[in-house]
Amino acid sequence: MEQDVLLEVKNVTKEFPGVTALSDVSIKIKRGEIHGLCGENGAGKSTLMKILCGVYPHGSYSGDIIYNGKVLRLGAGSIHQAIEEGIAIVYQELTLIPLMTVGENIFLGKEPRTGVGIDWNKLYSDTDELLKRYKLPVSPHEVVKNLGVGQMQMTEIAKALSEKADVLILDEPTSALSEAEVDKLMEILATLKSLGVTCIYISHKLEEFFRITDTVSVLRDGKVVTTLPTKDTSLEKLVQLMVGREMKERFPKGNRKPGEVFFTVEGLRALDPNDPSREIVKGASFELRKGEILGIAGLMGSGRTELVTTIFGEYGILTGGKITLDGQEIKIGSAREAMSHGISLVPEDRKRQGLVLIQTILQNISLPNLDRFSGFMRINGSAEIAEAEKFSKSLSIKAPSVHVAAESLSGGNQQKVVISKWLMSEPRILILDDPTRGIDVGAKFEIYKLINQLAEAGYSIIMISSELEEVLGMADRVMVMWEGRSNGTLDIAQATQEKVMARATGIEIA
Ligand SMILES: Nc1ncnc2c1ncn2[C@@H]1O[C@H](COP(=O)(O)OP(=O)(O)OP(=O)(O)O)[C@@H](O)[C@H]1O
Ligand SMILES: [Mg+2]
Repeated sequence: MEQDVLLEVKNVTKEFPGVTALSDVSIKIKRGEIHGLCGENGAGKSTLMKILCGVYPHGSYSGDIIYNGKVLRLGAGSIHQAIEEGIAIVYQELTLIPLMTVGENIFLGKEPRTGVGIDWNKLYSDTDELLKRYKLPVSPHEVVKNLGVGQMQMTEIAKALSEKADVLILDEPTSALSEAEVDKLMEILATLKSLGVTCIYISHKLEEFFRITDTVSVLRDGKVVTTLPTKDTSLEKLVQLMVGREMKERFPKGNRKPGEVFFTVEGLRALDPNDPSREIVKGASFELRKGEILGIAGLMGSGRTELVTTIFGEYGILTGGKITLDGQEIKIGSAREAMSHGISLVPEDRKRQGLVLIQTILQNISLPNLDRFSGFMRINGSAEIAEAEKFSKSLSIKAPSVHVAAESLSGGNQQKVVISKWLMSEPRILILDDPTRGIDVGAKFEIYKLINQLAEAGYSIIMISSELEEVLGMADRVMVMWEGRSNGTLDIAQATQEKVMARATGIEIA
C-alpha cells in the first residue's frame, strides 16, 4: 500500500549572505516513517529543519512546505505555531536553561497553573510521568547544570515529546550519548513510530540509519543527491553519496615511531571541586611517549574527562599521586600553567568552552596562538590569515571566508574551528576530548591525518573518544578507565573491542 505523504519540501531555496544553504530542495516525508537525513558539515540539514519548525519563517525562503496537504506558513518569530501544528524539534545545540530543574525546563512557558500561580505539584508529577513513559533516566527535580550531556539530551527529547508531536525532528541527537543511551533512544523511536509519530532523523553516525530509518535522503552542498529506502543502500554507498567520492578507509595510515617516555601520571586521585565529598579520580596511572597517540577508552561516566581536565589543572582537587615531565615532578594548578608546560586540551563541550561565537573564524583560530604571530603581526597579519586559511581549507571548513562570525557556521564546522585552533598551537602534549563528535566522515579523515602528522613530528597526543573504533583505529596504546580509575593500558596490537570492553566494565582487572 502506498503510504501517504505527510510533509513535502518543494523546491526550497534558502540563502544567507554569501552562502546558498539550500538550493531547490525537494523531499517527501511519508506519514509514520522515520526519515534519515545525512550530509557533510554545512550541507544544509539544520537549515532545512529550522525552516520546518519556523525558526526561518515563511517568506524567508523560496519554495513551499506542504504539510497535511496545505502550504505551511509559519510566521516570523513564532516557533509556537510549529508546535501547534504538531512539529517538534530537538536542536543540534542544547537549549536548556542550566539553572532550572528538568521539570521547569520541560514545561517552560506552558507551566500548569492553579489560578494565579504555577501548580508545582502537577508540574513535577507530569514531568515524572513523561519521563517514566519514555523510560528516560532523569530526575524531574535535578538542576540541569548538574546533568551529564547525555541526560541533558534526554531532557531535550522529553521536552519535545511533552507537546502533541506528529512530526519529531531530531538533529544529531546521539552525538553526545553513550552507547547504552543510544540504544535507549532507538527504543524510544521505535515506540514513537508504533504510535504513528513521523520522525526526521539527522546523524553523522551513519550506522544508526541502518538501525532505525525507513528512508534516507542525502544532502550535498545544499542539494538533494537522492532519497531512497534504507534497505536499498549500504554504509559505503551512503558515504560515497555524501562526500561525492569513494572512501576506502576510515583511518589514515600513520608512520609513527614513538620515542621514550617523557610524561607520567602515577596514582592520581582527585575530588570534585563542586562537591569535595565525591572522589572523581580514584587512582589513575599512565605513561606517555614522545610522538605517540595514547587513546583513553571507557564508558560514559568512567572519569575520562575528569582525569584529563584534572591533569590540565582545570578541575579536580588533587589529593594524591604524581605527575612528572622530563623526569621532574610538576604541579599544575591552572590551565595557564599547563600551557606553560606545553600541554593543551581541546574540551569535550566545545560550544561552551572552546569558541567565541561572535568572533570570526580567524579570531577564534588565532586566539591561543597570538604568541606565534605577535612578532610580525603588526607588520603583517597576513601570516596569521594564511595559516588560518590553510587549516580552513584542509579541514574544508565551509564558510565564505575566515572573516565571518563563528555563529554563522554549521555545528560541525564550528567544531572544526575549535580543533584547528589547538592543532595550530602545536603543544608538546595535545589532549583531545572526543575530537570528532558531530564531524562528518570526510572531515574526520582530515582531522585524523592532522593528528597523525602532529604525532609524526614528535608531538604527543592523548585522545579520548566515545567511539571505540576511533580509539582502536588511531591509537598506539589504549588506556582504559573504569569507575574513576585506570584499568590498565593495552598495546594496540592486543587491543580488541572485547578486551577493551572487559576492562571498561571491570570484568577484567589489571
Ligand atoms: N545564520 C546563518 N548565517 C549565515 N550562514 C549560515 C547561517 N546558518 C547556516 N549558515 C550556513 O548555511 C550552510 C548550511 O548550514 P547548516 O547548519 O544547515 O549545515 P548542517 O548540514 O546542519 O551541518 P552540520 O553537520 O555541521 O550540523 C553552512 O554553510 C552554514 O555556514
Ligand atoms: Mg547541523
